[in-house]
Amino acid sequence: MPSTSYDEKYAYLEQRIDALKTNKTGDERQTEGEGFDRKTLMTLYPFMKRGLIDKVHYPISTGKEGNVFYATDEDGEPVALKIYRTSTSTFKRVSKYVEGDPRFKGTTGNRWKFIYTWAAKEFRNLERYYEAGLPVPEPIANDKNCLLMEYIGEEGRPAPQLRDVAMENPTEVYDEVVSFIIDGWRDAHLVHGDLSEYNILMMDGEPIVIDVGQSMTSDFFNAKELLDRDIVNINRFFKNRGADIIDPETIKEEVFAPEDENDDDDSDEEEYAEDEEEEEE
Ligand SMILES: Nc1ncnc2c1ncn2[C@@H]1O[C@H](COP(=O)(O)OP(=O)(O)O)[C@@H](O)[C@H]1O
Ligand SMILES: [Mg+2]
Repeated sequence: MPSTSYDEKYAYLEQRIDALKTNKTGDERQTEGEGFDRKTLMTLYPFMKRGLIDKVHYPISTGKEGNVFYATDEDGEPVALKIYRTSTSTFKRVSKYVEGDPRFKGTTGNRWKFIYTWAAKEFRNLERYYEAGLPVPEPIANDKNCLLMEYIGEEGRPAPQLRDVAMENPTEVYDEVVSFIIDGWRDAHLVHGDLSEYNILMMDGEPIVIDVGQSMTSDFFNAKELLDRDIVNINRFFKNRGADIIDPETIKEEVFAPEDENDDDDSDEEEYAEDEEEEEE
């Protein structure tokens, strides 16, 4: 943080997000009533200083755990800003996911700290998926309860959720999603844990997976249960949409198939180990 006073910073911020409060354009999607609390404003400040956010335009989604906003950076390029609520109810809903996860040791008693850890976890999971080449929004930045990522959609029109899309070829989309499950486990060493038609966006006919806060590493004690659940949910949805469904056991065989010996995958494993160490801190 630069050495400007708190009030100066605050004034700067208020000015930058003016549109949020005054609803100037009359656009019904403007965020009237969705004002940010002081702590969140202070978190957005460094993003603004770095040019990562110039304007926060309107909420794409207002959920129980948080809101996702359409924002633009200093070049006017769209970005998606996810802000977790730090309310007690979010804390309660989310904390049940992480019971027994060593990465959350010492944070579960402190609501703020816990939500920050949760947002950081979503960011790291996004990084891990993205670096493994899986179709997720590119992670941009994370600070406290805020997460900045690639915006999926067109200007003024966020990509729809899978459940709202009429698919021309559901089997093709299904196969992509099954690949996400398999490659997610094998290459990113993650299981999504909440994969559904709500957490898949459709962009140019391709599925992009979002909402990876609860995703777990594949060595987590109940990772296989999460995997089963993801497969069941996805199969149920796509069956209703008329796709050719693959038997869960067949999918799992692919997931757990031994590494191809010719696969030059060593570096990947090392990276994974390092990542784990950091997370233990
Ligand atoms: N990167 C993104 N680009 C465009 N829209 C997004 C993006 N991330 C989330 N959204 C929108 O916000 C909604 C909620 O995001 P999600 O991460 O699923 O949060 P939650 O379900 O916890 O509220 C999504 O269903 C989607 O419509
Ligand atoms: Mg979601």
